[in-house]
Amino acid sequence: MRHRSELWLADYIDTFRDDSGRLHPLVEMKRTHSWRVLANAERIVGALGWDEELSDGALAASLLHDTGRFPQFATYGTYYDGSSVDHGRLGADVLAVSFPWRGGDAGLREAILGAVRLHNRRELPTEGDERTLRLARLVRDSDKMDVLNLVRRYAEEGRINDLLPKITPDGGHSPELLREFSTDGRGSYRNVRTLQDFLLLQLSWVLDLNYGPSFCLLKGSGWLQWVEARLGRGAETEKLWRSVEDRMASEE
Ligand SMILES: [Fe+2]
Repeated sequence: MRHRSELWLADYIDTFRDDSGRLHPLVEMKRTHSWRVLANAERIVGALGWDEELSDGALAASLLHDTGRFPQFATYGTYYDGSSVDHGRLGADVLAVSFPWRGGDAGLREAILGAVRLHNRRELPTEGDERTLRLARLVRDSDKMDVLNLVRRYAEEGRINDLLPKITPDGGHSPELLREFSTDGRGSYRNVRTLQDFLLLQLSWVLDLNYGPSFCLLKGSGWLQWVEARLGRGAETEKLWRSVEDRMASEE
């Protein structure tokens, strides 16, 4: 399944190339993201010791999770779901009809489709098909790990607006976002204005990681040290930092 997914996704992405064979740079970014998420998933799944069939399905779901991004960008020219389409749902719809499933375990197919459909939800459901939820959690961990590192890379290169056109590279935290964090401990995209805001939101993603090996990957990447140096620590964000540190320590 993993091998078939790689072949199919490469072919599918090719259909979005222009006459000279080029992909829009933002589409190329999603292409490379897909394979890096697969690489993260491989490391996490390898450490989880899942059986072969579930591992294979997990790798396929991880690679295919952003299938919807390609038609989304082609149709709407944006990756903002709010002003276009739910790319998780769109991806699952495309895969349901276009992926060469060739029979196989129908339950596993549904779990892969479910994981793709759910991967971008603000929160995952707590109940439902067990395999779907396991794959969805795995996809989200693998995805988050790549986005953390991707934002870091673009920020370090001073070109964060290539990745996130709507945010301001400089400036402190928006009061609305800090208020959100202090009231319900969570922040949302709609209150993200600056890079600092985005990094703070990403810091809170650490609390949502699902699997022990994902915390190991995070630790190995040095991302937390980088973000601490970049954001600094202040009274308004101290509570979040403590929660993140407690969570990291409990996963050791
Ligand atoms: Fe996505």
